[in-house]
Amino acid sequence: AIPIAVFASGSGSNFQAIAEAIEQQQLHAKIELVVTDKPDAYVIKRAESKGIPVLAVHPKDFSSKEEYEEAILQALREKKVEWLILAGYMRLVGHTLLQGFASRIVNIHPSLLPSFTGKDAIGQAMDHGVKITGVTVHYVDEGMDTGPIIMQKAVNVIDNNREETEAVIHAVEHDLYVAALKDILK
Ligand code: GAR
Repeated sequence: AIPIAVFASGSGSNFQAIAEAIEQQQLHAKIELVVTDKPDAYVIKRAESKGIPVLAVHPKDFSSKEEYEEAILQALREKKVEWLILAGYMRLVGHTLLQGFASRIVNIHPSLLPSFTGKDAIGQAMDHGVKITGVTVHYVDEGMDTGPIIMQKAVNVIDNNREETEAVIHAVEHDLYVAALKDILK
């Protein structure tokens, strides 16, 4: 199994989908570590209930982004992690991790990139009034949601209904991320 780490800042529903795909042997990977920058994120509970170790690091406890990422890098090396899977990690990846895992960091984003980068991509799409949005899985580079695209899937916006549109996008994310990781982690 390929040793991976999942990075998340929030609920962790994508983490859950990946962990379940591994349990069902759809993915030949092992989540060695969940890394979060939010020590109260719900993803921590999800990881603990699956017995997966969690590294919760608060960026403000470090004097620089380099030191913050060095601490993470050290934990990743101890676990011999080979791939970083970002799943709602709401922070730009810096040089330290990009160099440590060159071309081995992937992210999922809830829009059809290059549209609606950054935070609240679903809200941005609804506010803009687009009728089609979607989900993108891509490699991570130094930009914000700018790396090479791996897979995309379109989702129809349900007019004036953010909640339902969001539910569809999340369901699509869970399937698309597993499909993309199946392709990548070989
Ligand atoms: C997902 O919709 C993911 O695409 C998005 O955060 C959510 C995390 O949900 N990521 C970004 O917006 C990254 N720019 P989850 O914690 O339930 O997996």
